Amino acid sequence: MTGNKKRSGKNIVLAGFMATGKSAVGRRLAKRLGRRFVDTDRLVEKETGLKVREIFERRGEDYFRDRESEVVASLEKYTPGSLVVAAGGGALNREANRKMLKKHGLLILLTADPQTIIKRASLSPGKRPLLETADPEARIKTMLEERKQAYSACDTSIDTTGRDIESIVDEIIKYLEDR
Ligand code: S3P
Repeated sequence: MTGNKKRSGKNIVLAGFMATGKSAVGRRLAKRLGRRFVDTDRLVEKETGLKVREIFERRGEDYFRDRESEVVASLEKYTPGSLVVAAGGGALNREANRKMLKKHGLLILLTADPQTIIKRASLSPGKRPLLETADPEARIKTMLEERKQAYSACDTSIDTTGRDIESIVDEIIKYLEDR
């Protein structure tokens, strides 16, 4: 990328299902672009002083979603175009969040097949309460179907199945350059 040519005041928002690589890719992408990286889950944890799983256990999902919406709204305080954002897998479900993220951001959907999601999620056990079920594959398929419309708000998508982080980052940077 040549200088700030392609920044165009837009944050880069990585969206998509759990365990599709948003945080790992986002961290690396931010480093390569010299931007600040923020992860909505981590911001919710910072605000509440609780881990995501503790919030689900003690306060329930609605409470988590309200905190997540507050965090998304709070991103307005950063200079547009200065951020790479990893949005929690359900963050696009609410229309207000989609609008807010799209207002200052280019939305890149990361995807992966259900088996890959299960495998990656198993590497960090206890982190994704919504996948703690007897049949995670069925749960994933149902949730993907439910979220189809929300995820369709994204500007482009990248299938991360079988890919390493650096090649995904390369692809995103190329996409930004070619726009
Ligand atoms: C969720 C995804 C999680 C986290 C919470 C709910 C979801 O974030 O926000 O467990 O509803 O898809 P990641 O997508 O970063 O795993």
